Amino acid sequence: MTSTASGARVPLPNPYTPGQVPRFLAGRREELGRIRDQVGRVATYGETGGPLLVFHAPRGLGKTSLLRAAQRETAELGVVSVWVSCVRGTPVLPELVAGVARSLERAEVTAGATSGAEGTRWRARLDRIGVELGVVGLAGVRVSADLRDDEPQDPSPTAPVTALEDLLHDAATLVRRRGGAGLLVLVDELHAAQRGELSLLLNALQNLDGQREDNPLAVVTAGLPVTPEAITRAATFGERSAFVALDLLADADARAAVTGPADALGVSWTVPALDAVVAESGGYPYFLQLLGSAAWAAAAPAAGERIGLADVRAGVPAAQGQITAMYRARWGSATPGEQAFLAAMAASVPDEGNVSRAQIAAALGQDSRAISVPRERLIDKGVIEPVGHGLVRFTLPGFAAFVRRRGEP
Ligand SMILES: Nc1ncnc2c1ncn2[C@@H]1O[C@H](COP(=O)(O)OP(=O)(O)O)[C@@H](O)[C@H]1O
Ligand SMILES: [Mg+2]
Repeated sequence: MTSTASGARVPLPNPYTPGQVPRFLAGRREELGRIRDQVGRVATYGETGGPLLVFHAPRGLGKTSLLRAAQRETAELGVVSVWVSCVRGTPVLPELVAGVARSLERAEVTAGATSGAEGTRWRARLDRIGVELGVVGLAGVRVSADLRDDEPQDPSPTAPVTALEDLLHDAATLVRRRGGAGLLVLVDELHAAQRGELSLLLNALQNLDGQREDNPLAVVTAGLPVTPEAITRAATFGERSAFVALDLLADADARAAVTGPADALGVSWTVPALDAVVAESGGYPYFLQLLGSAAWAAAAPAAGERIGLADVRAGVPAAQGQITAMYRARWGSATPGEQAFLAAMAASVPDEGNVSRAQIAAALGQDSRAISVPRERLIDKGVIEPVGHGLVRFTLPGFAAFVRRRGEP
């Protein structure tokens, strides 16, 4: 708390952001560098940024935070950005079209062009793509019905591909002609896009990349660890995308995530307090925010004060309550068959390690083919993730221990 002239104590606001975009993005220098490279190409050469950039990681690792930071940062380069987030079962392309139109209006790129030939052309584009995507919406229903089909499907309806391609081309060149750098399209939760829509988007981007000097735009996406597979299934050439996995924060970055927001308010952390939070979080960004927030709430510090180990200890139960609620929600969203799978998995490793298909099958007393369905479903839900060679692991630190505790009397 801060003292006012009258001596009253005014509490400092809690600067931590569990579940929200952080005030201070710790680490992620390499990942931001990848985005900067692409946007730099758009801005400098007025051409396509490069292959589709795909960040993938389990929930809570900081994908949305990274994309938002990049969006903020690149706005200074004169890039007009469009943000869309995919939701399972909801078409995203109409939202992308509306988003492009809105972003251009907000950037006043189309303001002067609403009359005259350019404006007429632009409105005609928007109308046409609306019609084309209406058609795709219907096709999408058919496509999603055979989602399990392992054949990648390159041939997609050409008319909507062309319409989307034209829209992105026009939008990007309009920005450029009005003195802006180009267009940045950010797509979050890409794993939730329908396969038909994903295929359409990938085809349009592929065509735009083929004429790269005419298309000043970059597309940066994020999704769960299944995203690369979903992209490759939607279009064979999708495998040429740039896939980048987000990892837990390294020690120094985890420390910065905790001290950064406090520093900005003139509050510091003692070394033991910081050590405790970083150790407890396992470098998982969401837990760092949660634990930081809880310790801050317990300390209620004034500018110039320090958060100590006692504050961390006082705050941990509240943070743990929150974390346990998350574990429970994940457990509760699993079917009985999936829960049996999770219990077998947790029983197969002493800590948070990787588990093989054979280990899980053995623990369940089943054939290893029989466990494919719960395995796939849990991967789709983001509860577990494949780590290659048929191995899987839990995506949330501490979840294995939670599952084991449930099994205890
Ligand atoms: N680099 C970072 N530095 C500090 N906090 C972060 C960082 N990345 C993520 N966070 C925090 O972690 C939590 C999860 O981030 P989010 O971007 O929503 O993850 P995702 O999109 O991968 O699920 C949020 O509370 C956010 O504030
Ligand atoms: Mg997210």
